[in-house]
Amino acid sequence: MERNLNPHDRLIVALDVPSAAAALDLCDRLPATFYKIGLELYLAAGAGLIATLKQRQKRVFLDLKLHDIPNTVAAACRVIRDYDVDFVTVHGAGGAAMLTAAQEAIAAPRLLVVTVLTSITPAQLSEQLHIATPLGTYGQHLAEMAQNCGLAGAICSPQEAAALRRALGPDFLLVTPGIRPAGTDLGDQRRTLTPAEAIAQGADYLVIGRPITAAPDPLVAWEEMIAAMEG
Ligand code: C5P
Repeated sequence: MERNLNPHDRLIVALDVPSAAAALDLCDRLPATFYKIGLELYLAAGAGLIATLKQRQKRVFLDLKLHDIPNTVAAACRVIRDYDVDFVTVHGAGGAAMLTAAQEAIAAPRLLVVTVLTSITPAQLSEQLHIATPLGTYGQHLAEMAQNCGLAGAICSPQEAAALRRALGPDFLLVTPGIRPAGTDLGDQRRTLTPAEAIAQGADYLVIGRPITAAPDPLVAWEEMIAAMEG
């Protein structure tokens, strides 16, 4: 558990927008300190946007979910190392050799393992992906493997955070997307909890996208999320 953080520091806003201009417009409207750049925005805006956010004293989570052979992922991590980002993601399904190669290459940014995407249901895991292990057990296995490879933490559903916290100890970072206030649109997310529940389950950081970025007033929505985390 990352200690001494207030809700403000624990909330990562997912900038799932198609341009640097749209991303910076959101940043201008929000008092958030931590932003996530995913595939869409990175492909559209590139590393220049990372530098801009860093100049503005923001923390940056580069969520590219790397998944390839160890040599290729390590080479990508050596490029990312120079970006000065705070969090980077790799898929646990790439295996231990890939995770170890990534960790050795990344140096300072904290490397987080993607366990099971929060859009995947237990039925999809077994029927479409042919993974017979129960979802919670499988996700925990990937997180434990990543911990053994030296990674700093895991991306998991808030529904799995309490079990992972028990299994992985107090210092392994748990970052949870799949956050939905009661009664809001799930979109493609499936294994969700509310902000307050995610905190209660032991999440260190909450990644929240559409409930803030697609809200009529993102600032009001951000304030509501902070209030919910405090509650
Ligand atoms: O809009 P929403 O709050 O669903 O956004 C969640 C964000 O977290 C998205 O950017 C998505 O790519 C990311 N994410 C996720 N599930 C994971 C890993 C990352 O939803 N397992």
